[in-house]
Amino acid sequence: MTIQIITLFPEMFEGVLNSSMLWKAQKEKLLEYKLINLRDFGIGPRKQVDDTPYGGGDGMVLKPEPLFAAVEHAQKADPDAQILLMTPRGELFDQEMAREFAASEAGLIIICGRYEGYDERITSVVDKQVSIGEYVLTGGELPAMVITDAVSRLVPGVLGGATSAELESFSQTDIREYPHYTRPEDYRGLKVPDVLISGNHAEIAKWREQNQK
Ligand code: 6GU
Repeated sequence: MTIQIITLFPEMFEGVLNSSMLWKAQKEKLLEYKLINLRDFGIGPRKQVDDTPYGGGDGMVLKPEPLFAAVEHAQKADPDAQILLMTPRGELFDQEMAREFAASEAGLIIICGRYEGYDERITSVVDKQVSIGEYVLTGGELPAMVITDAVSRLVPGVLGGATSAELESFSQTDIREYPHYTRPEDYRGLKVPDVLISGNHAEIAKWREQNQK
């Protein structure tokens, strides 16, 4: 699976993609990430990517030509990829959507919106508009990182956990978690629940079931 990200700020992704599990996933060739700099598809010697809005108003709008050219470039590498547009007007991202993206054979092309907006005509090539929550961010970069992380950890082998078959199952949309503890048993008078030290696996399972939120 390949995740291609179209952005004016590829450097924002370096820390996220080159650390921890996402770095390991790439190293083990379970996943590939490609950053596509929208600026490379800018128009003219100044590589213009934005312009003033028709109808007037504040701010600049991402022009259609660089956006379409960047998407077409990404599609050449992965013709079946799903095209996502990051926008606070999009469908709310959740674990079910992450599971669908991870289970699909096709890769993802993620378009990060910036500035005041993007020319609406790019939506004609977009499969899904996605938002990560009911608040407004300055751009689609953080949402793209959130989606990349949530999808990557579900790709078989990345956590050493989920298999392809498991990705079909309800358990992959269950976001409940039980509390975890590790040594020491007593830290500044804060104690690990006795049941977890009991060695009674049935009781431990029951406790975890009762304590997951
Ligand atoms: Cl996808 N983009 C922006 N700019 N703000 C958001 C968002 C996306 N999701 C939540 N807020």
